[in-house]
Amino acid sequence: MNSNKLTPSNLGYFVFKSDHLPEWEVFLRDLVGMQISDRSTDEQLVFRMDRQEQRVVIEKGDGDDLSAVGWEFETDEALDEMVEHIKEQNINIVEADQTFCDSRAVKKAYICTDPDGVNHELYFAASIIPMNNSFKSSVMKEGFLADNMGAGHYVANANDIELSLNFYRKVLCMRLSDFIKGEVAPGGPILEATFMHTKTGRHHSVACATIPIPKKLHHFMLQYEDMNDVGLAYERFKESGATFFMGLGHHPNDQMFSFYVQTPSGFGLEIGWGGIIIEENKWEVKTYTQLSDWGHEQPK
Ligand SMILES: [Fe+2]
Repeated sequence: MNSNKLTPSNLGYFVFKSDHLPEWEVFLRDLVGMQISDRSTDEQLVFRMDRQEQRVVIEKGDGDDLSAVGWEFETDEALDEMVEHIKEQNINIVEADQTFCDSRAVKKAYICTDPDGVNHELYFAASIIPMNNSFKSSVMKEGFLADNMGAGHYVANANDIELSLNFYRKVLCMRLSDFIKGEVAPGGPILEATFMHTKTGRHHSVACATIPIPKKLHHFMLQYEDMNDVGLAYERFKESGATFFMGLGHHPNDQMFSFYVQTPSGFGLEIGWGGIIIEENKWEVKTYTQLSDWGHEQPK
């Protein structure tokens, strides 16, 4: 089968492992603007950003890193076809039991693991919040860009880039968006990153690069619908004394206006606005030579 037909619909949720649950609660609710779900327990924090029940889950545990990524499929049949395809690639994939599906608030899920040890949870039919309890942020002017575009994107730090790219492109059937090969900072090391998208077309749901950091995740990104919310969040983070990875700036490939802060787990969060949506039949893959058009300055 044409691998483009098998591509997941969107990136539905992130799961992080952390021993810093109280810090994450303040970080995602009061600074980023997500809403904490009443599905949260002493063992895990659950956050909402739209009508989907779970978008970010922080599970109590060691490591402070990316634990799992949820990939949504639009139909039961599309999920089954993908599972067949993955089995044909000789990759181990198992069906999740009812308890697990309930904990993720999905109807059905299968789990496989990538070469860096991150779980990929392929699912169908996420739970939706009732209208009388709809998403509300305590700090944002408008909302998140999510729904069928998914939760956001992430940059995976690949131990072996060939193995990881093979996993994303050949096993998960992610579509190629573009490449960036350029200096992280003037005169600094060259970063080579491959950006990939899903069916609904957020410019990238995942990018892969080999980065000299002791984590599987460089950053994840959440996108706002209003540019002013990026500025307001920037001010909230500044006020809170947060550590910035990069100041405000603009990426040439996804056209994202954004900044980067350190999360309570040490990896980054990019908060952005304006990222483009790919129209599949008009898309041409390019290579960019700069990470940013302007800004994204790293604090000295
Ligand atoms: Fe990003």
